[in-house]
Amino acid sequence: MVSLETRRLVVRHGRVGDAPAVTRYVRENQEFLAPWEPSRPPAWFTEDYWRVRLALDVREYFQDRSLRLFLFPRESPGEVAGVVHFTSVVRGSFQACHLGYALGERFVGKGLMTEALEAALDFVFGQMHLHRVMAAHLPENARSAAVLKRLGFQVEGLARDYLLIAGRWRDHVLNSRLAPDWRCDPEDSYLVMEPGSKVSPGRPSDAGGRSGPCDPAS
Ligand SMILES: CC(C)(COP(=O)(O)OP(=O)(O)OC[C@H]1O[C@@H](n2cnc3c(N)ncnc32)[C@H](O)[C@@H]1OP(=O)(O)O)[C@@H](O)C(=O)NCCC(=O)NCCS
Repeated sequence: MVSLETRRLVVRHGRVGDAPAVTRYVRENQEFLAPWEPSRPPAWFTEDYWRVRLALDVREYFQDRSLRLFLFPRESPGEVAGVVHFTSVVRGSFQACHLGYALGERFVGKGLMTEALEAALDFVFGQMHLHRVMAAHLPENARSAAVLKRLGFQVEGLARDYLLIAGRWRDHVLNSRLAPDWRCDPEDSYLVMEPGSKVSPGRPSDAGGRSGPCDPAS
C-alpha cells in the first residue's frame, strides 16, 4: 500500500477501517463538491460503500489500473482532508493516466492540494514510471486551474462536452504534465504490461519476452 509523507499530510491509501472518516468527508462536503463532480448515487454517502470501495482501490492499484490516495492531516490524522486519484492507467505506448482531486471545504486555501500532489506526482512518475498525467477542469474552476499551473501542467486545449458534471455534459480545459526525465528501459515490465495484470507497481517483474515500445521490433 502507498503512504507518502509531506510537511503537513500523510497521503495514503484508505484502509477498510478508514471508511467512517471517508464517509464523514463525503457527507460534510456533499454540497461544496457537487458543482465540480459527477452526480453521486445515494450509496456514495454510506460507510458500506466505502468499506468495499477502499478494498477495491488497493486491489486496482496492485492490478496497475488506478491509484486513489486520501489526505490525512498530520495534526488530526483521524480526519480526511481530501483525495487525489489517478485513474484509467494505460501502459504500452501510452503510459498515461487521468488525475482528479478534491479538498474538503475547510481545507481549501492552505496549499494542501499542491503539497499532496507534489508528492503523489513524484510517486506516479518516479515509481509507477508513467509518462503523462492528464487533468481536466471546468473553464470557471479557477482554483483547480491554479493548482495545475503551480504544479507545471500545461494547457492543451478545450474539449467540448467532455465530462458529465452535476448531471450536464460540460466543456473542460485539458491539461497535462509529462515525466521530466522519462526514458525507455527495455527491462521495465510496465512497458509491456497488459491492463489488469498482476504486477506490484514499483516492483517490475519479468517482462516475459513480450515486445514493448523500446523494442526495435515493435
Ligand atoms: C481545486 C481545489 C483542490 C484547490 O484547492 P486550493 O486550496 O485552492 O489549492 P491548494 O491546496 O493548492 O492551495 C492554494 C491556495 O492556498 C494558499 N496557501 C495558503 N497557505 C499556503 C501554503 N503554506 N503553501 C501554499 N499555498 C498556501 C495559496 O495562496 C492559494 O490560495 P489562493 O488561490 O487564494 O491564492 C479545491 O478548490 C477543491 O477541492 N475544489 C472543489 C473540487 C474541485 O474543484 N476539484 C477539482 C476538479 S477539476
